[in-house]
Amino acid sequence: MKIIQAATKEQMSKLAANILIDCVKNKPDAVLGLATGGTPEETYRMFRQNVKEKRVELSRMRTFNLDEYEGLGPNHPMSYHAYMKQHLFDPLQLRPSQCFLPKGDALNLEEEAQQYEELIQKYGGIDLQLLGIGENGHIAFNEPGTPFTSRTHVVELTPNTRDINSRFFDKKEQVPYRAITMGLATIMEARKILLLANGERKQKAMTRFIEGEIAEDAPASILRKHRDVTIIADPPALTGINPDKITEVY
Ligand code: GLP
Repeated sequence: MKIIQAATKEQMSKLAANILIDCVKNKPDAVLGLATGGTPEETYRMFRQNVKEKRVELSRMRTFNLDEYEGLGPNHPMSYHAYMKQHLFDPLQLRPSQCFLPKGDALNLEEEAQQYEELIQKYGGIDLQLLGIGENGHIAFNEPGTPFTSRTHVVELTPNTRDINSRFFDKKEQVPYRAITMGLATIMEARKILLLANGERKQKAMTRFIEGEIAEDAPASILRKHRDVTIIADPPALTGINPDKITEVY
């Protein structure tokens, strides 16, 4: 596992955007796994900028997002689909046929989860999976206690996750209770993983992830068994990490 310490969130985002760009340049039909949340917003901005400046061809790239809230369709402003349209799909004029997210407004969520899992396999699996981390150590919406063997599934969000994510909604009551998320085994099959974390509020989760036991109460800890993981984080997020484990500093 490579742990890169970036001096600022801007630096972290720049390094991350470069990794995404390199992936698509080296493999124009790459399948990117994408994340939402506050953490990758700047990465997406820099990715867009790089695509334009370097004229990177994206017509053969495919994207698969990690998760989506129950009941929120692409036109709901708080859906992850709307987030992706705003930050990536629309500005880069990606075709709907190349961008996939679980359908939160599907009539049968369990069936949708299974179909989404199959779709990922159909496109040959994910080349590079971008991840954030929740304050409780979740990745995607895999809350603590999720089996490491999980595939794309329907999840009950913890009160804590609903609380934290309510900052994106007008009122806490609007935060859905359930979501569809890629599972931990699905994420582990990505050929390369890039996890970003910044700020003091991620410190506890990062310390548990990197320094603690590999156990299901810390969903991210399974990533330590993956053979190609890069973490880029700022100093506040890495405060609890043994400095010997930090491989590069920017
Ligand atoms: C959400 C998402 C995760 C994300 C996490 C952290 O719950 N489902 O994929 O990594 O929150 O979000 P943020 O980057 O806003 O801190």
